[in-house]
Amino acid sequence: MPRQLFVTTALPYANGNFHIGHIMEYIQADVWVRFQRMMGNTVHFVCADDCHGAPIMIAAEKAGKTPQQFVADIASGRKPYLDGFHISFDNWHSTDAPENHELARQIYRDLRDRSDGSLINHKSVEQFFDPEKNMFLPDRFIKGQCPKCGAADQYGDNCEECGAVYAPTDLVKPYSALSGATPVLKSAEHFFFKLSDPRCVSFLQDWVQSRNARGAARLQSEVLNKVKEWFSTRKNPDGSSSEGLADWDISRDAPYFGIEIPEAPGKYFYVWLDAPIGYLAALKNHFIKLAGDAALGAQHYDAFMADPATEQYHFIGKDIVTFHTLFWPATLHFSGRKTPDAIFVHGFLTVNAEKMSKSRGTGLDPLKYLSLGMNPEWLRYYLATKLSARNEDVEFSPEDFMARVNSDLVGKYINIAARAAGFIAKRFDGKLGEISDDGAALLGQLRAERASIEQLFEGREYAKALRDTMALADRVNEYVDANKPWELAKQAGQEARLHDVCSVCIEAFVVLTTYLKPVLPALATQVETFLGVAPLTFASASQALGAGHRIGNYQHLMQRVDIKQLEALFEAPALAESAPATVESKAPGGEAIAPTIGIEDFSKIDLRIARIVNCEAVAGSTKLLRLTLDVGEGMDAQGQPILRNVFSGIASAYRPEQLIGKLTVMVANLAERKMKFGVSEGMVLAASHADEKATPGIYVLEPWVGAQPGMRVR
Ligand code: 2FM
Ligand code: ZN
Repeated sequence: MPRQLFVTTALPYANGNFHIGHIMEYIQADVWVRFQRMMGNTVHFVCADDCHGAPIMIAAEKAGKTPQQFVADIASGRKPYLDGFHISFDNWHSTDAPENHELARQIYRDLRDRSDGSLINHKSVEQFFDPEKNMFLPDRFIKGQCPKCGAADQYGDNCEECGAVYAPTDLVKPYSALSGATPVLKSAEHFFFKLSDPRCVSFLQDWVQSRNARGAARLQSEVLNKVKEWFSTRKNPDGSSSEGLADWDISRDAPYFGIEIPEAPGKYFYVWLDAPIGYLAALKNHFIKLAGDAALGAQHYDAFMADPATEQYHFIGKDIVTFHTLFWPATLHFSGRKTPDAIFVHGFLTVNAEKMSKSRGTGLDPLKYLSLGMNPEWLRYYLATKLSARNEDVEFSPEDFMARVNSDLVGKYINIAARAAGFIAKRFDGKLGEISDDGAALLGQLRAERASIEQLFEGREYAKALRDTMALADRVNEYVDANKPWELAKQAGQEARLHDVCSVCIEAFVVLTTYLKPVLPALATQVETFLGVAPLTFASASQALGAGHRIGNYQHLMQRVDIKQLEALFEAPALAESAPATVESKAPGGEAIAPTIGIEDFSKIDLRIARIVNCEAVAGSTKLLRLTLDVGEGMDAQGQPILRNVFSGIASAYRPEQLIGKLTVMVANLAERKMKFGVSEGMVLAASHADEKATPGIYVLEPWVGAQPGMRVR
């Protein structure tokens, strides 16, 4: 029976763009979701913007927007990240949407109106109030002098100088960070979720240690150990500790951007009450969109959530464990709803050994990564090689990134197809041949790992799954090295063996691609097209394509990481002052746009895709590289390929081995030019700033994957 899963990542605050920490979480969840889909399971994978709360309300005011407009603007920027890194959410929703307002209010009423006694109560709370802004101040918006060390301008909850933890009321000379006014203490009625109620305590103590319907733990063991401590002791803001779970303050007073509490005008739910309910709202909205009808979608949602077969999983970071392991299951259970089957907690991402912070982000900007033309699947692969089921921090190191991608992914895996596909196309009409016993044995070994790789993906042990897959790729490469197809190709009478060996490689490549597909979905799609196969599932790993299956022409599947890209990625952004916007816009790249030409002028220039078949330094020149280019001009009378010799002034930017094998664009009808070193038969296109001294860098053009030598650029 296929499983039916409901999977979410944490809902990001709608107050800024994604940073690399978000992307890591989405990749972790997306790999798992894609794996489940490849197993034939049904997955509903949803997320939403977490819109409410005082910080967003205040940020909106600063930006001169309504909170609704502010969060809508943030939401409109999500797509390039999600598409860019192949994150396959089925729906992106908002905690400010009607579904969430309705669900939050219903859940609250369910908790309040329980027949065995309400789980909501009221207490009067004394809090700082900004008399100028006319609002209660959240802790983060009260500043003052540290009561312990006297440091100025410290936040209301703890001192960044001496680390002291205290209540905002302990601050010396407190002031409002919003208006500068001296806050006054004022009491207000707050609503509490009675987490200290014996019903809640005993339910939660049991729940955190219980197993789900599949017999799996709901929490990772290291997370459970931490959570257990909260049942016995708890830290108070003043640094002291108390026994057991405390009631949870779930209300805030107007003005607040949030959901109004039913039957309590002027009171709003604290953002953390309605945020996780946003998981349910996003799912409900997804069902409504699928059904194309609100009532029908709502019915489907109710049926899905009532079905005992439904499994619910949340991927989250280690900083929001309390909310997901105590408040959220209690909210769900005592409102008569299903609780999560598991909470998957991950650590933080450190970049160059620097800690990621929620608000700050660090070094690695995801959009910059994409805009540099870096392959999103390099990052997916690299992060997956570091991710396990444990709640551990993950380190991004550029050197390691380059090594993993270039030596493992390209060097070991891609290389297998690159070594075999050309022979199949050229010598065997694109058709696979019979496989003999040694090849069959190798393929048997690869396929035998399937169950174990599946288990590793299921258990989120991606690092192990990829390590095992690369070990299999090693075995295939050993087989290739032992059989040397390139030598078989030159020997008379070895046609059949060449066909056999190359067919084994292609069959092996299918198995490896299947194992990698949850991590490398776009690459797998390219491979499926090139091999002429239906979308790979885990079951396909066991099925041979078989003799006679025709594959397409091999196209280079993945480039290596260029150190220059990593350098550019971590380069500090140029300071605004050093690039005055007005000057640049009149002279982009350091020079004014040339006078207008017509299309007939442009079409005189014959631009072609060229493969750099060789590249070498030029003795006696520090500027030039000698390129040998294949522009698809076929063979000469002697059966030799017609190639172009081009000298290009790019020696300062590239080492010859970086360019060999790559595609570029050349001017194919430029008059030959006699140079000191020989005749140049064309020109390669490259970008640079007009003032190469002020803005160094030369960038050779490279077409998108799929372009072929000889194709005209128009
Ligand atoms: O910590 C955060 O970024 C929160 N916005 C996460 C919310 S997760 C869920 F509960 F909505
Ligand atoms: Zn201090």
